[in-house]
Amino acid sequence: MSDMGAQIRGLGDQLRWVAEIRPPHLGTHSEVLFAGMGGSGIAGDYAAAIASANTTRLVVQKGYGPVPTWATRQRPLVIAASYSGNTEETLDLALSSHEKGLPVAVVTTGGRLAEMGRERSWPAVMVPAGLQPRAAVGHMVGATLKLLEGAHAIDDQRFALVEAADLVDATVAKGGRRWEEARAIATRLVGRICIIYAGGPITSPVAQRWKTQVNENAKMPAWWSLLPELDHNEITGWETLPELTSQSLGIVALVDRSDHPRIRARLAHTARLTQDAVPWVAEIASEGTSPLARLMSLTAVGDLVSWMLAEAAGVDPVPVATIERLKELLAEDHS
Ligand code: F6R
Repeated sequence: MSDMGAQIRGLGDQLRWVAEIRPPHLGTHSEVLFAGMGGSGIAGDYAAAIASANTTRLVVQKGYGPVPTWATRQRPLVIAASYSGNTEETLDLALSSHEKGLPVAVVTTGGRLAEMGRERSWPAVMVPAGLQPRAAVGHMVGATLKLLEGAHAIDDQRFALVEAADLVDATVAKGGRRWEEARAIATRLVGRICIIYAGGPITSPVAQRWKTQVNENAKMPAWWSLLPELDHNEITGWETLPELTSQSLGIVALVDRSDHPRIRARLAHTARLTQDAVPWVAEIASEGTSPLARLMSLTAVGDLVSWMLAEAAGVDPVPVATIERLKELLAEDHS
């Protein structure tokens, strides 16, 4: 599918598709190590937010092996997620985990990861191919949650998946309230580098997703920083170059009801202290009841903003030529 707008509008259907999947039986695990990169890796960050509300510890490792020492002792379930099935860091960590005797389960569309899984009888949730990995976030997050359900690591997410799907559909509906909100943010961000501020268990992983969506869809730099940490360093970084930063940057803040009240206070004070050096473009609040719905409601707004920024910049949001070229260069190193 070549149209990113259509891929974003399909996010709700992805979540509904996963809601119907029966989770595989994976025993019982209260510790999980998640391996995945980029658009697949974000599924681990979202799943970690949901797992922590279920007393499960899910650690995301974005990179190669080795298996961390705690994991060789605690023997977590390892979830390896790669949309293409060919991401070398994810394959490396999956294999190192297997070699250490850890149980591995996979989320993928195929590729080497599916082959490795078949050869070693790893349980798998196979998701439909044909999208950009980052545009398959509904499938990737949902499939990861199904594996966690199958490991008794989280409670049943069916209602949450449907709630999230309905909210996402309402968000991405052209001309709807959230769509207009996204349009207003994108309009204010045109020609600026977007910085996303967040500081809670729901908003923090979404800040990363906003950043990477702006990078990959709009082909623009973007950064995210988290409260309260940024109040201990970054806040002073706005002092010296206000003429430059006020013209070239813009902050978007993400908020959720699970944010600590002091985080809300910090956001307000931080905005007050820095507003002359950088425009605070918008504050976006999550919607919904379940953690998943709140994560996905913020995600959908960010996906729309990144797509609108691509449109404004006149770039095709779909291809990621530089990522592909880098993967080719790395593959040539092996040949
Ligand atoms: C491209 C994208 C990338 C990939 C990443 C890992 O749309 O989102 O960030 O997700 O290069 O590839 P996969 O997801 O195939 O393991």
